[in-house]
Amino acid sequence: MGKKTPFICQSCHESFPKWFGKCPNCNAWHSIHENKSESSNSKTGANFQLTALGNLDSEANTSFSSGFIELDRALGGGIVPGSVSLIGGEPGIGKSTLMLQMAAALTKKKLTTLYFTAEESLTQLKRRAERCGITSDSLLVSNGSTLEYVRTMVETHHPKVLICDSIQVMSSTNLSGIAGSITQLREVSAELIQLAKTKQMALFLVGHITKDGQIAGPKLLEHAVDTVLYFEHTHSDQIRVLRAHKNRFGPTFEVGIFEMQGQGLKDATDASTLFVHPYEHPRIGSVFYPSIQGSRPLISEVQALCSPCQFGAPRRQGLGTDNSRVALLAAIIEKHVGLKLSSQDIFVNIVGGVVDKDPALDLAVALSLISSFMQRSLPKDIVVCGECGLSGEVRRAAQLSARLKEARALALSPILIPHAQLKENPAKGTLGIRHVSELLGFLEAPKKTLRSAASKRI
Ligand code: TYD
Ligand code: MG
Repeated sequence: MGKKTPFICQSCHESFPKWFGKCPNCNAWHSIHENKSESSNSKTGANFQLTALGNLDSEANTSFSSGFIELDRALGGGIVPGSVSLIGGEPGIGKSTLMLQMAAALTKKKLTTLYFTAEESLTQLKRRAERCGITSDSLLVSNGSTLEYVRTMVETHHPKVLICDSIQVMSSTNLSGIAGSITQLREVSAELIQLAKTKQMALFLVGHITKDGQIAGPKLLEHAVDTVLYFEHTHSDQIRVLRAHKNRFGPTFEVGIFEMQGQGLKDATDASTLFVHPYEHPRIGSVFYPSIQGSRPLISEVQALCSPCQFGAPRRQGLGTDNSRVALLAAIIEKHVGLKLSSQDIFVNIVGGVVDKDPALDLAVALSLISSFMQRSLPKDIVVCGECGLSGEVRRAAQLSARLKEARALALSPILIPHAQLKENPAKGTLGIRHVSELLGFLEAPKKTLRSAASKRI
């Protein structure tokens, strides 16, 4: 008697020896499908090996460039042969554009790349290629959407890189269920991943994101791949951030920054300039802060607004940072600087959609709060970095030298840093702060003209 194929619930992933209309495990209706491929694809162990560590060649994992400096950075140094990357993001963010441009760059370098674009027609793809100025006639593209066809093409062309755009529209003819269903996603991705590993071919799976920010389909896709990269929007329509949420080959939280232009995506290597708005005059309630995004320093702008609370409990609201951290800093300033912030609604924003939970942000928030509350301007290029303790003491910031290098590259000054780190980072325009109350010394003198104009109005 032949071996029975299991039936799998697409809702809870439980397997059963027979079909049920209602899943006995999660009670979902019509969610159980036969998993025909399970038995036929049972692992024979033909590709397995047992060897001494010394016999292994680390050179085999040498990565190569994708053609984008920023994509290489997000991938942890470049494309690793045999690696599997999941590229997620909202529709229209630029996943297909990135993949197409990467495929063209790789083909130019004589690295055979197969781009499966089952989601769009080949005409649409050609139009995009023309828009991006892609002239690589030898780039291999296909609208194939079945695992079996992909496998045949891989056997024929032996690509170094395979792109499936998107994994949600790929299916296997051996399986029941429509493309994008849990059974299909699980099996097709598992087969493709195995193919990538055995052929030492880098595999890129494009995935859609649901409203709540998850890759649509089973979470297990994220577990199965080596790298998960999410494409995100920023404050500007043009600037896109590719963030590594998982990476077996490099640090997580690494970010690649791109500019979407009329001719496709471009590396934004000097990204800080995109986030720093050049100011001509001193401003109130706003400072620059050298953040660390992954392993890259990025100068962002921190703004604060204090406004008298009209009724109820005063609000403490942070955009890009924690509300509780804003509340804590307001209390520290009230206690140790003596400013009555308890009567104020407080809003803090990290401009440009940058998200930062780093405690080194404290001092920048504190100074912009003090400036806003006192309505006194700050030097227009002031940069602030350091953690603030509960007794108002300024504590060390991690990776300070990288942050300072970025701030100095943009010729920003003065730069306020924790006093304890001043000896290691001496430079003209860099000043050490011991206590939060010392920040008062950086407020510019009240403008006489402004004052007299205001008093005239009263
Ligand atoms: P696309 O790569 O199709 O996004 P995804 O695959 O993530 O759904 O990106 C499409 C968007 O990018 C669309 O809004 C148009 C814009 N775009 C440009 O601004 N410039 C370009 O050169 C290209 C190709 C697209
Ligand atoms: Mg697309």
